[in-house]
Amino acid sequence: MKAVVWNAPGDISLEQVPDPRIQEPGDVVVRLTMSAICGTDLHMVRGTFPGMAPGTVLGHEGVGVVEEVGSGVRAFRPGDRVLVPSTLCCGACVYCRAGYTAQCDVANPHGPLAGTAILGGPEPAGPFNGLQAGFARVPLADTNLMAVAESVIDEQAIICSDVLPTGWFGADLAQVGRGDTVAVFGCGPVGQMAIASAWLQGAGRVLAVDSRPDRLDMARRQHAEPVDFSREDPVEVLRELTRGPGPDRVIDAVGVDAYTTGEADPAEQQAASGGGELSWKHGTFPSQAARWAVDAVAKAGTISIIGVYPPGFDTWPIGAAMNKNLSVNMGNCNHRAVTPPLLDKVASGVIDPSVILTEQEPMTDVIDAYRVFDEQGPGWIKVALEGLS
Ligand SMILES: NC(=O)c1ccc[n+]([C@@H]2O[C@H](COP(=O)([O-])OP(=O)(O)OC[C@H]3O[C@@H](n4cnc5c(N)ncnc54)[C@H](O)[C@@H]3O)[C@@H](O)[C@H]2O)c1
Ligand SMILES: [Zn+2]
Ligand SMILES: [Zn+2]
Repeated sequence: MKAVVWNAPGDISLEQVPDPRIQEPGDVVVRLTMSAICGTDLHMVRGTFPGMAPGTVLGHEGVGVVEEVGSGVRAFRPGDRVLVPSTLCCGACVYCRAGYTAQCDVANPHGPLAGTAILGGPEPAGPFNGLQAGFARVPLADTNLMAVAESVIDEQAIICSDVLPTGWFGADLAQVGRGDTVAVFGCGPVGQMAIASAWLQGAGRVLAVDSRPDRLDMARRQHAEPVDFSREDPVEVLRELTRGPGPDRVIDAVGVDAYTTGEADPAEQQAASGGGELSWKHGTFPSQAARWAVDAVAKAGTISIIGVYPPGFDTWPIGAAMNKNLSVNMGNCNHRAVTPPLLDKVASGVIDPSVILTEQEPMTDVIDAYRVFDEQGPGWIKVALEGLS
């Protein structure tokens, strides 16, 4: 099969690789009908999230059809249409049972303390080959795969693999309540779904911060009030718009590849990447969104961090946050716990996540698509990949 393979920072290629096979009784092999490129993939390609093993197949967003099942699989049969969530879990440990499926004790082969098991991610997170491929092996399939209703099209389901659940999770972590003013930093796909989720969770007002006109326009179409940090000081504007105190809740949907309007900080950038090589178009100031979030949020407000920071990243304005009595919640989305009710919301028309899908690219053009996405091509917000097998 063809797959997108990570070779080194800045070096990915579309390669012919062996088809995946059933290895454990709980495995399923899925034939992918749609995959997608995510901002998280870019951290790995740029080197701002280190630890990738050369040869790993990238991608953690996918929809497909069950091709083959292991002898222990009960819930799925060949031919079933399924959604593959980005992170893996066992469904049975205490963390999974409590809904913290991203902190599963079992799914990561490095053990209970090794962190989230993610498809197409770094070596310490598995490594598991990912979903930008014709086929994928999904371990612990009964408790990871989700059936997709006929009425939900691939273009909607693909956004439920990672982006919609993460946006929802972000609004939930931010403790969005009835009438709250919510600021979302970063209007990429995750930020857009955080905006939609904030409304559904009761926000009275949503303010959206980015510098890209296409993304701010999409936020406006969702009835958020755009703030362009390349033209205005976002902290001052958020204070002005709230007549002083700042927003009650802030969601950081930017992460390590944040830009600043001032001087770049190469030292912080290198520290964030574990001292490794950096490539492609990485951000200029990894803690910029975090700093603006802490400055802007109202006293005793809540910050939710869903933008990804690598494990070695330790520059966060804790003193300023402590002295404002802030609550800070963060983490990797508990995909398997969060997603099933969201699929129902999509099936019933409460939310249509496909509105953020601006590009559908053939797999043959995937490396060019990565380049344009990395360079932030105008209008490119979410990129799906088709023609995978
Ligand atoms: N927690 C999770 O489980 C989870 C899941 C999926 C994605 N993520 C992460 O969420 C983040 C967003 O993902 P995405 O696919 O939308 O990425 P993206 O790169 O498409 O979007 C990030 C956006 O942030 C904007 N930005 C950069 N610096 C900024 C700043 N200082 N202030 C405000 N905006 C700024 C960029 O212009 C861009 O539009 C990434 O870090 C991704 O890795 C986390
Ligand atoms: Zn993703
Ligand atoms: Zn578990």
